[in-house]
Amino acid sequence: MSTIEAYSGERIEELQQIAGDHLFMHASQLNDWRGNLKVFVKGEGCWVTDISGNRLLDGMAGLWYKAAGYGRREIADAVYEQMQAISSPPAGSAAVPQIQLAGKVAELYSDNRARTFFTSGGSEAVETAVKMAKKYQQLNGKPRAFKVISRRYSYHGATAMAVSLGRSPAADPMGPEMPGALHVTNWDSYRPAYEGDPVDAAVKCANEFETVILHQGPETVAAIIAEPVSAAAGIHFPPAEYWQRLREIADLYDVVLIADEVITGFGRLGTWFGPMNWDVQPDVTAVAKAITSGYVPLGAAIATKKVADAFTGSDAETFRHLITFGGHPVSTAAALANLEIMESEDLVGNSRRMGDYLYSQLQRLREHEIVGDVRGGLGLLAAVELVKDRDSKERFPAAAGLAKRLPKILYERNLVSFRAGDVISICPPLIIDRDEIDFLVDALDGALEQMSKELSA
Ligand SMILES: Cc1ncc(COP(=O)(O)O)c(C=O)c1O
Repeated sequence: MSTIEAYSGERIEELQQIAGDHLFMHASQLNDWRGNLKVFVKGEGCWVTDISGNRLLDGMAGLWYKAAGYGRREIADAVYEQMQAISSPPAGSAAVPQIQLAGKVAELYSDNRARTFFTSGGSEAVETAVKMAKKYQQLNGKPRAFKVISRRYSYHGATAMAVSLGRSPAADPMGPEMPGALHVTNWDSYRPAYEGDPVDAAVKCANEFETVILHQGPETVAAIIAEPVSAAAGIHFPPAEYWQRLREIADLYDVVLIADEVITGFGRLGTWFGPMNWDVQPDVTAVAKAITSGYVPLGAAIATKKVADAFTGSDAETFRHLITFGGHPVSTAAALANLEIMESEDLVGNSRRMGDYLYSQLQRLREHEIVGDVRGGLGLLAAVELVKDRDSKERFPAAAGLAKRLPKILYERNLVSFRAGDVISICPPLIIDRDEIDFLVDALDGALEQMSKELSA
């Protein structure tokens, strides 16, 4: 009997009961899922099977991370072997895969002399990057630099400092933000904050960082942080000039440029790292998610040699930062196996090629009156924005409830797309092929037709 057949109706009901009574689902309202929690029991390639036996395409790669797809035996074996050999070394020492992974990351990164600090996930990677930037400044003649500038509506993680940087709804219960957290306008290609030529508008957005640095005093600013493409802010692709300008500003005022690549790192934008698309070298890069394809938790702050070298010297130069499970040997072993798959199957190339195909196929969705914008064309990340009025770009009112209705409609069409609302985020595994993209776009097409009818009824 397969695992799936083993779940009888009675067993499913029992699990729903336990979940409804005892499980805190992340960032979701109990009343929305109690008795009807989606439970999955198997995954293979881009496809997942729920507890009732329905097989669906995962259009979101888990939570933006399942680069190598589901069911990879090689990763499971690497985890098993490492656990059997030595699950973790005594404190203050290293296990072999930690060392190997640091070397591998440097090989793939745009600075091959980079040094990597491993964490347990993305929030910690961001915290580590920011803390590293502050200490770097202290060691480099800017002892008063503690401020960090980020963009409104970005998401940098759930921990206190990361939430302060995000200025997103996730900041809900936090009260006052971290002192020194400053925010500028995010890049929005559909409703740009500045009129005129898109490149000029993007550069003006980037220039807001400079305005704030000058206003605050460059000697007080430690870092600026941004995602190459912000998923939280709606998946808007900046022109190359945006990140190139960020680099210029960071250089001009001796500010550390941090790229939050928790979503985009390891192939999502058709290059191993996002800023490679624009020939930009950040000073520190925060990664997580796809480094292990989400098989086990792992994150990292990758420092260029210039930044890392500041921490070599006397005791005073030490980076006093420790995370018990940061870079766990089992996770680093999984990451090595994952990156080996990504290299041998050229998943970064596939991201580029299939990203182009996906973007071209999504264009036909513009036939639906409710589609205001289709964004993509840089790897396997894309977005379809729905609007009430195409000319004015007016959004649907919250009462239309798109974010609750669309994922359900798509589920019925065998597509998992939990981030489907005013903006439908599309982020499939990097192993996806043309047929699967056709399936994904057909499902969206059908769902939009249904949604349009329901909205006009
Ligand atoms: C851009 C970005 N930064 C940071 C994080 C935080 O990562 P984690 O949830 O692994 O802590 C996320 C999570 O989705 C993210 O998307």
